[in-house]
Amino acid sequence: MEVHQGFHAIAGVLRVIGLVDGTLIPIANTSALDQAFICRKGFAAINVQVVVDHRGRFTDVVAKWPGSTHDSFVWANSAAGQDAERGVFGQSIFLGDSGYPLRIYLLNPVTNPTMQAENSYNIAHARTRNLVERSIGRWKMRFRCLHKSAGGLRLKPQRCCAVVVVTAMLHNIAVTGGATLPDEVEEEEEEEEEDASHNPLQPRDDLHAAGVHTRNQIIHFAFD
Ligand SMILES: *[C@@H]1O[C@H](CO)[C@@H](O)[C@H](O)[C@H]1NC(C)=O
Repeated sequence: MEVHQGFHAIAGVLRVIGLVDGTLIPIANTSALDQAFICRKGFAAINVQVVVDHRGRFTDVVAKWPGSTHDSFVWANSAAGQDAERGVFGQSIFLGDSGYPLRIYLLNPVTNPTMQAENSYNIAHARTRNLVERSIGRWKMRFRCLHKSAGGLRLKPQRCCAVVVVTAMLHNIAVTGGATLPDEVEEEEEEEEEDASHNPLQPRDDLHAAGVHTRNQIIHFAFD
């Protein structure tokens, strides 16, 4: 209830339990590194999936996939994604960018909005989702070793994943304790969303159709 209310207060989207996003954590490229770590932007990285709550704390972190992995694949293979598919979160929904599939429990933006209500929904979706991008920015600011400007974590990939998880936990402690926020770093990489139309893992199936229905209900209930 507290998380729902906290998210609702941002931009009026109801029943949100978390914001999901993928972020690339740069790691050092060595000759021994598997090429699967080279991300779509051409550098060596780990693809980390995070879910944040209404206060910008990480409630779920998946740090085990190489940089070339699609966000939708990480989601589908994560405990959060599989729990959501099994209905564990009830009526609660996650918000994600267009790199994530549309589901009854996971709403992404309307790709080509034509109605005013769809526009309003997209704006509210973006304003709410902004929190996950800011949270990632603050996390990388607190722990500069995670930021691209540090040149990549110089550890074995498995150790990098441990650093990712532990720094996320420390970030949560800092947020809960009300620690002073560092200035945010530019996260231009976070703004570039994956294009859903190029995503091989997004068949337009029954699950998608049910997601369209849920999204339309929310659009017409809250934004018409
Ligand atoms: C990573 O390192 C390998 C071997 O040292 C090299 O062939 C490759 O071009 C490098 N890739 C990037 C993106 O720097």
